[in-house]
Amino acid sequence: MRTTLRLILALLLVVGAWVVGHDVSILDAPWTSGWPHPIAGVVLQAVSMVLAGFLIIRWGFVRPMARTVQWMRRIRMGEPPDHGRLPKGGWRPLTRELIQLARSLTSARASAEEEARLRLAGQARWTAERLKEHVRSLLGGRPFVVVANREPYLHVRQGREIRCLVPASGLVTAVEPILRACGGIWVAHGSGEADRDTADHAGRLRVPPEAPAYTLKRVWLDKREEEGYYYGFSNEGLWPLCHIAHTRPVFRAEDWAHYQRVNTKFMEATLEELEGSDNPCLLIQDYHFALLPRLIKARRPDAKIALFWHIPWPNPEAFDICPWARELLHGMLGADLLGFHIQFHCNNFLDTVDRTLESRIDWEQFAVNRADHTTRVRPFPISIAFQEGPATSPSAVPTSAIKEQLRTRLGLRGEWVGVGVDRIDYTKGIMERLRAVERLLDKHPSLRERFTFLQIGAPSRTLIQRYHDLGLELDKETERINQRFQTRAWRPIVLLKKQHSHEEIMPFYQGADVCLVTSLHDGMNLVAKEFVAARTDQRGALILSRFTGASRELRDALLVNPYDIDQVADAIYYGLTMDPEEQQARMSRMRETLQEHNVYRWAAHLVTELATIRPLPPPPQASPSQDVVDSPPAALPASASVRP
Ligand code: G6P
Repeated sequence: MRTTLRLILALLLVVGAWVVGHDVSILDAPWTSGWPHPIAGVVLQAVSMVLAGFLIIRWGFVRPMARTVQWMRRIRMGEPPDHGRLPKGGWRPLTRELIQLARSLTSARASAEEEARLRLAGQARWTAERLKEHVRSLLGGRPFVVVANREPYLHVRQGREIRCLVPASGLVTAVEPILRACGGIWVAHGSGEADRDTADHAGRLRVPPEAPAYTLKRVWLDKREEEGYYYGFSNEGLWPLCHIAHTRPVFRAEDWAHYQRVNTKFMEATLEELEGSDNPCLLIQDYHFALLPRLIKARRPDAKIALFWHIPWPNPEAFDICPWARELLHGMLGADLLGFHIQFHCNNFLDTVDRTLESRIDWEQFAVNRADHTTRVRPFPISIAFQEGPATSPSAVPTSAIKEQLRTRLGLRGEWVGVGVDRIDYTKGIMERLRAVERLLDKHPSLRERFTFLQIGAPSRTLIQRYHDLGLELDKETERINQRFQTRAWRPIVLLKKQHSHEEIMPFYQGADVCLVTSLHDGMNLVAKEFVAARTDQRGALILSRFTGASRELRDALLVNPYDIDQVADAIYYGLTMDPEEQQARMSRMRETLQEHNVYRWAAHLVTELATIRPLPPPPQASPSQDVVDSPPAALPASASVRP
């Protein structure tokens, strides 16, 4: 009995619990019976308890504490903090917190150094810190709200676990750093299957999960709403309408009804967040919410509203085929500011309004006056969170090693690697790109077994037939081309159809000799910018479609017409065989451009323009007091326009 008790005691001590039990039957036993003497037993127990206590304190407390202190000292001294790993033997919750603290500290230090460096250099580049201060002083405590269909974090179930994912979306890549820097609210569709389990009763949660900086407000849509508004009207109607990539738009009355209903639902959700505050500042994102500016303005005239259109705006003839063209324009013109990536899209928009609605276009100010409300139209080329600092200083791992790891992991052969990273979307020109690789191998047989093209394709909008079919077509085309050229140990094309995280994509960008961005039409395309940002070694060639917004800024890319298969094949060859000095010169100029034109600058310009909007001087002639959409003739007599 006594032995059993001791064993249990020892076991409990080992697992870290402390229980003191005593077999009191010894009190009844005669003093002389048994050995060891009961008193000696008690003393032995006491000594072993003290010893165990000492060891527990030493191993469980003193040592981890010493390690944690040492680890913190390294961070304080600015030594590499080894962020990813917990100090061994520490207490997990505490060390996790410390890791966050260390991350914030390192990034604050990097920002401060960068600020100081820029101040010294007399430059005024935009950084997260500078944007934060700027927005704070501009808004002076007024609420800052972003509305976008796609949420920056979604939760899904994996077995019994709930995992948090960042969706593959250019919009998220660009807008998230701004909310991180400035705080505020992001209103979005809660589309993850475990989203409700991770938000409160009002659909709110603080994000990013590892270091909360702003509030995500999730709006719940039922299946039919999602099908009609997102898949239907937004992505089978407006998306092909605006991209003109030879996929015919589909307009269904029931999708339109859902689109209107969901815009109203987002209006209600947004108003809920604005209750009790004055003069809020709203940034509405994209083609999913053309009606939202007017809906909100009608209820909250004190709100300053910007709508940023992330995709191209077509010419008036193309837009006119939409049966609800007038209603869409009417909704958009409820905004105070309308942003597009490039001037060309602004011009198309104003032309479209001019031909469709009764309004007065001011071509000097680039504004539309309609029913006593003015909407400014401006280009704001979006970008990524690129700024010099630890993340962009030359990688500790040489490019050759990164490439080698990639080769080993994917079983590649040959010295040259090309890469493409896209959502699987017919606007991205992936099919044309594969055919250009085929053409390259036809034209230059010497590249066979020496060049491999890696295409990362994130499945996207797969419930839409065209997207579903495209996925299958890409498989077939890859197989056909591979069968033409492949050998026992080599295939020319590796198609990786799965969503990759930013960290997973990095080695592809860093190890590639060429990156192909061959969209048939694209508002901006941030993959091109991400590739440039990843090349801290200043190597690699970018092949870029001239039908992307990015081609206006990245003039040192090899610009191509993606429909011209021979030209793209030649560009790949040129990129692979380019003189290293030329490669470096081109890449370093593109990096310079990106440093200057980062997403903080985009946000600063957009928010400044919005927050400082003053009424324009009264128009030279009375503006038509047209404020309904179902009015007769779309086009206005030329005399009503003040176009010079
Ligand atoms: C493009 C659009 C974005 C959109 C993204 C992802 O980049 O310009 O506005 O967010 O595609 O699309 P998704 O439908 O997956 O949100």
